[in-house]
Amino acid sequence: SVIPVILSGGSGSRLWPVSRLSYPKQFLPLLGDSSLIQDTVLRTAPAQGFGAPMIVCAEDHRFIVAEHMRQLDIEPAAILLEPKGRNTAPALAAAALVAREKTPESILLVLPADHHIADPAGLRAAVAAGLPLARAGKLVTFGMVPDAPETGYGYVKPGESLGDGVQAVERFVEKPDRATAELFVAEGYLWNSGMFLLSAEACLAEIARHAPEVLKAAEESVAMATSDLSFRRLGAAFAEAPSISIDYAVMERTDHAAVVPADIGWADLGSWSSLWQVGEKNADGNVLQGDAWTIGTKNSLVRGEGIATVAVGVENLIVVATEDAVLVVSKDAVQQVKDAVELLKAEG
Ligand code: GDD
Ligand code: MG
Repeated sequence: SVIPVILSGGSGSRLWPVSRLSYPKQFLPLLGDSSLIQDTVLRTAPAQGFGAPMIVCAEDHRFIVAEHMRQLDIEPAAILLEPKGRNTAPALAAAALVAREKTPESILLVLPADHHIADPAGLRAAVAAGLPLARAGKLVTFGMVPDAPETGYGYVKPGESLGDGVQAVERFVEKPDRATAELFVAEGYLWNSGMFLLSAEACLAEIARHAPEVLKAAEESVAMATSDLSFRRLGAAFAEAPSISIDYAVMERTDHAAVVPADIGWADLGSWSSLWQVGEKNADGNVLQGDAWTIGTKNSLVRGEGIATVAVGVENLIVVATEDAVLVVSKDAVQQVKDAVELLKAEG
């Protein structure tokens, strides 16, 4: 069966003040009652025929991850602990090595821990469509139809058909500049969703070819790993891996990529505007979370965590109040929230 590999490494600073370094966004119930990592695990759970998930996370977050899985009554195949975050290529390399050790022909479904998917059955259907090609050694991506020239995503140019619902990837470009992104949208490129379906074998072969230093560090760290409970603590060599994403390290360079175009209500919950976008809106287009109210307000998100929060006579605004911090930001400026975090860090 397919093994979900959940990458849980982001800090989520654009979702401050709710997301914090010690408790980043993937562990928060940002949309409903369950955390984003729980939603991620439940979409492709053993109950739907998937293997037990592997989770790769920071050492500091091990107990949070374990507790969130315990709440779901899901026993992970392993929780790999990184001594230091080195982006997604080393994390995935380590996961593939551990999976291959157990089952040489393992197929991995790589999943970011912080995405929203409105149609989980659609995701499972897309995985089923990609499976024969993943078994045959393709690196399968899931392509989303773009609705804006976002520069924070990877772009995939679909090519010839490789079978039912699967196309070759003619070109993969990670995080293009604005003008290029506009061109790509006009030319029918798809967004790379950041989810991948691939065999551990093909994954490691392509990392060996295009990013050998990543593989070397991952191999050493897995060889020196120590186990306790379901935790697998990667050895110190992991910290020496180049810090690079799988998109730059492999996807831009490989000749073996394929894409399953999928319309599954996908959203990367990277910023407050994306939470407004996918959130449940009232007649005025407001998303209200927690102790939140509005008067004469439109298209805004208001969140109060244990503190009464009211917006009056404003539009396109994000207002988030927590116990020790308040954020007020225009919906157009949400990307700069991470600068606010830096500012506060610098000011001590
Ligand atoms: N364990 C671990 N360690 N996980 C990590 C690390 C790390 O060092 N760095 C990032 N991750 C996790 C993040 O928590 C997230 O769940 C996932 O890997 C993707 O990392 P991001 O940092 O969020 O990547 P991105 O959003 O800039 O870009 C990727 O996703 C886009 C779609 O959301 C790329 O795949 C793009 O091509 C894609 O369009
Ligand atoms: Mg992301």
